[in-house]
Amino acid sequence: MSGTFLFDGQPVPFTDGQTILQAARAAGHYIPHLCWHPDFPPHGSCKLCIVKVAGRHVSSCAMPAKEGMEVESNTPEINGERRALLQMLFVEGNHFCPSCEKSGNCQLQALAYDLEMLTPRFNHFFPDRPVDASHPEVLLDFNRCIFCELCVRASRDVDHKNVFALTERGIHKHLVVNAESGRLGDTDFAANDLAASICPVGVILRKRVGFAQPIGARKYDAQPIHVVAMQEDK
Ligand code: FES
Repeated sequence: MSGTFLFDGQPVPFTDGQTILQAARAAGHYIPHLCWHPDFPPHGSCKLCIVKVAGRHVSSCAMPAKEGMEVESNTPEINGERRALLQMLFVEGNHFCPSCEKSGNCQLQALAYDLEMLTPRFNHFFPDRPVDASHPEVLLDFNRCIFCELCVRASRDVDHKNVFALTERGIHKHLVVNAESGRLGDTDFAANDLAASICPVGVILRKRVGFAQPIGARKYDAQPIHVVAMQEDK
């Protein structure tokens, strides 16, 4: 079965089982996202992919496309809500972009630029989160975790190692390493695992790389994320 829906007033075709995000993206329309990844089922946690359908906000990464639905995405209202969600993500962790090795290659930072977020107008939580440097090749900086669970899913479903997990709830939620010691160095995690390269922010970093890529040559320096993401699809 297939059909068509309206995305910001433009007709978008879909096939049965496709979500709004998948169909829109296949038709060349970018919808912001952080926890969605094309190789994994939708997770629905970051909510950056919200769109408006029949007056309701829905997660486009999880919502199946339906014939005739009218979807609003790139509007001042929806982008304003996405900015607020980004602001919350920034204050919930410790994100100090200028000193972060992922700066310029970070999806959270790139989306904040793209959606013109100026300052996280909420009070910062400044959570007390550790850094794990126990692995010989990979550093973990939990301060930057946005709980997308992509490393958890990649390590469990693709690498078959189950190295990561999220624990607790609400403001106490945090990423942990599945080892009795809680240290990455005590797992069989390897630098060429998919989980080592899937983090959209700067939690999982290769050691001894640092700021090797100069400013100007980084992924999101020349083009905003909505352009880069669609080029990657081609
Ligand atoms: Fe849809 Fe995160 S991308 S909820």
